[in-house]
Amino acid sequence: MSKLNLPPVPSSEITPRDVWQGRRRWLKTAALGSLAVGAGGVSSAWAAGADAATLNVTANQKFALDEPVTDRKLVTTYNNFYEFGTDKGDPARNAGRLQTRPWTVTIEGEVLKPRTFDIDDLLKLAPLEERVYRMRCVEGWSMVIPWNGYSLSTLLSQVQPTGNARFVEFVTAVQPDNMPGVRSRIIDWPYREGLRIDEAMHPLTMLVMGIYGEVLPNQNGAPVRLAVPWKYGFKSAKSIVTIRLLEKQPVSSWERIQPQEYGFYANVNPTVSHPRWSQATERRIGAGFLAPRRDTLMFNGYADQVASLYEGMDLRRYY
Ligand code: MTE
Repeated sequence: MSKLNLPPVPSSEITPRDVWQGRRRWLKTAALGSLAVGAGGVSSAWAAGADAATLNVTANQKFALDEPVTDRKLVTTYNNFYEFGTDKGDPARNAGRLQTRPWTVTIEGEVLKPRTFDIDDLLKLAPLEERVYRMRCVEGWSMVIPWNGYSLSTLLSQVQPTGNARFVEFVTAVQPDNMPGVRSRIIDWPYREGLRIDEAMHPLTMLVMGIYGEVLPNQNGAPVRLAVPWKYGFKSAKSIVTIRLLEKQPVSSWERIQPQEYGFYANVNPTVSHPRWSQATERRIGAGFLAPRRDTLMFNGYADQVASLYEGMDLRRYY
């Protein structure tokens, strides 16, 4: 992954919480006024093909953050999604053609009940929560994003992992006609990621179907992706089609390309530098170009919840 310079972004681009929540309430009310909200949690505005359909979400206060949420515009226009190009603006420009319906997610491998889920069933599997997570990209920038979804463990428990399931692999979509980026060979498509089973079952690990109370925009990994907030952003696979439970550790896409630079674990760790740059500080997108870089926190600030997963492990070796 290259490290690109950031465009200047005024601090006015950070949206105070009450403003984006107010906007969402307004959208909800607007949708309710003219269109009934479907039982699946997605308003019929979505079915009618509207740009951003509202979701029924409830804020989970356990995952609230006392930090300003990044403006939606920035979260949806400054992206990494190499299937649509390597420039940060490419996903927003090119992801419009991604076909997100019909869409299924197949769960297979070391499970007692392998099963294929339709995306509309995933939207109904559990109440959709809003959780505000700090997200840190390996390139040195960060955002604060209100995700909508539920813990991945809710889905995995449906298929009953066997005692041999030690790892989980996530395989994402390849739509050659709709993804201009897959013509380039930078990645051996499909994009793949993986987690250890205890990481995958950790309550923080989230299966995401929306942001800001609205259906996930294509450029953010529609219709379903991961959010793993204590790991660098590349672990949060977008547009997932297969989830495979494995006995052996899978090789993720970035690990295959540059194993010295991108490890399997990829935990946010300010004390372990990337071979080409320090990871000690980060630039919060939207904080203003002149704002000082902020110190990166161990496990991206989630040490209380996840440090115990790595007890006794040498995190310099397992980077
Ligand atoms: N998933 C797929 N399928 N393809 C990708 O290129 N990029 C990763 C991750 N998931 C990527 C992906 C990287 S490098 C980051 S930083 C995050 O998605 C970015 O997510 P965002 O654009 O929603 O912030």
